[in-house]
Amino acid sequence: MSMAIATSSASVAMRSWMMIIGIAFALGSIVRLAEGRAFFVFGDSLVDSGNNNYLATTARADAPPYGIDFPTHRPTGRFSNGFNIPDIISQRIGQSEAPLPYLSPELNGQRLLIGANFASAGIGILNDTGIQFVNIIRMFRQLDYFAEYQRRVSAVIGAQQARQLVNRALVLITVGGNDFVNNYYLVPYSARSRQFTLPNYVKYIISEYRKLLMRLYELGARRVLVTGTGPLGCVPAELALRGSNGGCSAELQRATSLYNPQLEQMLQGINRKIGQTVFIAANTQQTHMDFVSNPQAYGFTTAKVACCGQGPNNGLGLCTALSNLCPNRQLYAFWDPFHPSEKANRLIVEQIFSGSTNYMTPMNLSTVMALDSLTS
Ligand SMILES: *[C@@H]1O[C@H](CO)[C@@H](O)[C@H](O)[C@H]1NC(C)=O
Ligand SMILES: *[C@@H]1O[C@H](CO)[C@@H](O)[C@H](O)[C@H]1NC(C)=O
Repeated sequence: MSMAIATSSASVAMRSWMMIIGIAFALGSIVRLAEGRAFFVFGDSLVDSGNNNYLATTARADAPPYGIDFPTHRPTGRFSNGFNIPDIISQRIGQSEAPLPYLSPELNGQRLLIGANFASAGIGILNDTGIQFVNIIRMFRQLDYFAEYQRRVSAVIGAQQARQLVNRALVLITVGGNDFVNNYYLVPYSARSRQFTLPNYVKYIISEYRKLLMRLYELGARRVLVTGTGPLGCVPAELALRGSNGGCSAELQRATSLYNPQLEQMLQGINRKIGQTVFIAANTQQTHMDFVSNPQAYGFTTAKVACCGQGPNNGLGLCTALSNLCPNRQLYAFWDPFHPSEKANRLIVEQIFSGSTNYMTPMNLSTVMALDSLTS
């Protein structure tokens, strides 16, 4: 009797040892996976790292002073003074370099295994968003390119490994702001605003977005960060164009306050349908509002004036070599009339990694990373 107990407790001890060894192995593979995890990016100018440099379009950021604080101090096509959101996420997940723009001729061989950036400035959920930019990579095309990418990777490492690389990858998608700014509200009495009331337009773009995300899932994406729009009515461009008494544009703020919660609900609905947490909502509206409403708390002197631009709030026209340029980019929440500065991008990524459930639904990226390293 006592022998049996002794044996069973010995085997319990043995099993706990095995478990500890198992966990140690898992931890070892965490490190390797964190180094090896691919990263894919889809969306608009907030996350484009230079695809539009290769296209005949006016939506581009390949001239100074863009890139002034980038390590090379040269423009790259990023709509930032330095790093953009994908760069900072890529660094935080331990990649040796950020995924290249899909159209870059340097994206070949082993470099394909890092991932790829399919984003294109000016695009929206809808095909008719950003038509004034003519030649940009619309969402359905970005997804077609993702399928093409997978065929290219299969040729390098085989179909099964390619599938695994995609299933284990982190995906970021940032799109939707242009469906308001460069479509519904682009001109008074735009075609879409005559077709839809604002609440119905929001429902429509959310339903179209859902189709794109389902396609992304079918293409093998299993961890997808989906950002909402920022406070579109409070960016320097809109303050200059539509704001009243120095305040944000009420109409665009109404649009984002309808859009963002419905986006989150739509993502939760897909996760429920799939039975798995594939889509993770990042409440970038909240993060942005934090520093728009109290810039000093984050070390900014202003969130109303762009660093680079002209006219009221430096909010009119484009950021070019002829624009006003602030000497210290660390002090500005906005780099140009529409896009956050590198410093603001860092704050946004900080919340993506560590934010509470007010910012990240159903969980932040640190939690996702910890879960994935234990199950892989
Ligand atoms: C966008 O255009 C592509 C190609 O013409 C088409 O397959 C897709 O259904 C269109 N998407 C929408 C939302 O109209
Ligand atoms: C991430 O989310 C978890 C769960 O909500 C929370 O406990 C944690 O403090 C957050 N931050 C980090 C860095 O994990």
